[in-house]
Amino acid sequence: MKNYKNIISLMSGTSIDAIDACLVRIYNDLTFKVIDFYSLSYSENIKKKLFELANGKGCVSDVCYMNFVVGELFAKCANLLIEKAKIKKEDIDFISSHGQTVCHLPEKQEIDSVKISSTLQIGDISVISQKTGILTIGDYRPKDISAGGQGAPLVPFADKIIFPRGKNRLIQNIGGISNVTVLSQDCEIFAFDNGAGNMLIDYFMNKLFNKPYDKNGETAQKGNVDFNWLNKLLKEPYYKLEPPKSTGRELFNSDYAEKIYKSAPASKYDVIATITYLTAKTIAQSYIDFIFPKTKIDEVVLGGGGAYNLVIKNYLAELLPDIVIKTHEDYSIPNKLKECIAFAYLGYFAFNKQTNNIPSCTGADENVIMGKFSY
Ligand SMILES: Nc1ncnc2c1ncn2[C@@H]1O[C@H](COP(=O)(O)OP(=O)(O)O)[C@@H](O)[C@H]1O
Ligand SMILES: [Mg+2]
Repeated sequence: MKNYKNIISLMSGTSIDAIDACLVRIYNDLTFKVIDFYSLSYSENIKKKLFELANGKGCVSDVCYMNFVVGELFAKCANLLIEKAKIKKEDIDFISSHGQTVCHLPEKQEIDSVKISSTLQIGDISVISQKTGILTIGDYRPKDISAGGQGAPLVPFADKIIFPRGKNRLIQNIGGISNVTVLSQDCEIFAFDNGAGNMLIDYFMNKLFNKPYDKNGETAQKGNVDFNWLNKLLKEPYYKLEPPKSTGRELFNSDYAEKIYKSAPASKYDVIATITYLTAKTIAQSYIDFIFPKTKIDEVVLGGGGAYNLVIKNYLAELLPDIVIKTHEDYSIPNKLKECIAFAYLGYFAFNKQTNNIPSCTGADENVIMGKFSY
């Protein structure tokens, strides 16, 4: 009997940039190997529609429709990866799909006597299984929420498996939102969203430079940090909330960006430099407020698209002089595939009927098996 599962993992995060697909082999001993990957960028039309939804500007019929459209695109991405990898469909054990978040409401809301968090990832898994012909597991977050958690963050489950023991590490993802996992011998694993990652940088790059993002931080490099503006931005109450906490476009959306832009510096390069510094500063400050009181840290491992932004990396090194800053590539894991690989692990455990949430990270009352199945 073979000692592994071949999994196609599908992921698109809050940046709403592209669907990342990764063909990952997970072995019985829980080690993994990336066999191939493929990214399908969202078209401008689709992006526009998804941004409207994520910014709370769509109606129920838009959500209904886009759930199926995104399902089709996720399936297309999986099929293109299968073609690229020249692998037979029969050799793929299952697809694991995160879906596309369009709404995430971690704070419990109350109506009558029902008090609960909520979240919505679209890209229907029935569409994916039908259009690929492969068992699809997905839509992980609702199960954790129904167990009293925030349905996020889920990636720490994989961080715990992937990274070797021995050092106290922070696994710092910088996607649309920035989020950190604390892996330390001194305390139980915990994790939280630090704040906006690339989301505000992307917004202002789009608005001021007509570009989707600041490649390698080249634009930020040309500006200066406006500390007056920065100090105003740091007053955002989210940064001081105690973990567990998670956030998304419900807070750091286009309205938020336009509001803060009212007191922005005149130079558009300074806007990008300051917002980029804000990303690094809120990450470093969250360590000082919530992590260093609990444990000493040896190294930070950056991942996600923001790990390619050299200016964020340099600011972090400057703000955290005593900590070694690495990226996932130092562990032979492509930065941009890390979250995809994490969802392959969640699928692997769901497939084996084993629990795959971490209550100390999500705030759930118990361990549960997250994931819905479509055959
Ligand atoms: N070479 C690069 N230089 C700077 N930023 C980058 C680079 N590549 C990707 N990014 C940033 O990373 C984002 C995508 O990161 P990703 O990890 O996919 O986030 P998400 O999980 O939110 O989709 C892009 O929107 C962009 O801001
Ligand atoms: Mg992405």
